[in-house]
Amino acid sequence: PKRVTTRSLQRRRDSGGSISMLTAYDFPTAQLLDQAGIDVLLVGDSLAMVVQGHETTLPVTMDQMIYHAEMVGRAASRAMVVVDLPFPDGQLSIERSICCGARVLKETRCHAVKLEGGAEQASRIEAMVTAGIPVMAHVGLRPQNVFVQGGYQVQRDEAALVKDAVAAERAGAFAVLIECVPESVAEAIHAAVRVPTIGIGAGRATTGQVLVTHDLIGLTSGYTPKFVRTYASIGETIRSAASAFHQAVGDGSFPGPDETFD
Ligand code: KIV
Ligand code: NA
Repeated sequence: PKRVTTRSLQRRRDSGGSISMLTAYDFPTAQLLDQAGIDVLLVGDSLAMVVQGHETTLPVTMDQMIYHAEMVGRAASRAMVVVDLPFPDGQLSIERSICCGARVLKETRCHAVKLEGGAEQASRIEAMVTAGIPVMAHVGLRPQNVFVQGGYQVQRDEAALVKDAVAAERAGAFAVLIECVPESVAEAIHAAVRVPTIGIGAGRATTGQVLVTHDLIGLTSGYTPKFVRTYASIGETIRSAASAFHQAVGDGSFPGPDETFD
């Protein structure tokens, strides 16, 4: 299949098409999402929460991101794979961010990085793109800022958010991800840039939509944000399969005669 690229994503926006994006952290899941036709796979730092069990995205390390990016890169034959720069590799020196981005391109089969921040990240984005590393910007709610913000809130400062997106585009970002803003604000951001926009909790005006796969398939426990649509109950499926196995081992019905060597 023909690989999704920065160019083909731009053509989607130009022709009024859409973009589907989901997170992926391991080989089998990434393969299934790729086969389903998902356009962009994101090795998100959300893996700190949904895979590692941390309370925020901050603990995951660059080495751990690379470990998961390798698996996803190996699985995706059509999707573009984007890898988050974890905290604080997207906030320290520009040189360090370029090194991290280069690791993604050299050590994994992934294609781009994502970086939280807009206007204040413009020079970093420009340097990375100049170095040959495609960058997706991430504006609006920035989970890596959770302790500065004192929690997760819908972001409503339209002027600042538009400025962030425009600065990221000018710096060379190939797309802008918009997290947790009112639909009208996402509409204004989308109208202000030419690159594709991809929303999460940002309404219907963006070019594309992204969700965390574990939320989508019902594999997360506890609080589910309003913008999530849950399409399957995989958590329930896993628990009942394990429970059936446990019971069968207990009552001696597993293994049966056909599941035994002569
Ligand atoms: O890490 C992640 O999963 C993300 C998405 C929420 C966009 O950045
Ligand atoms: Na992220």
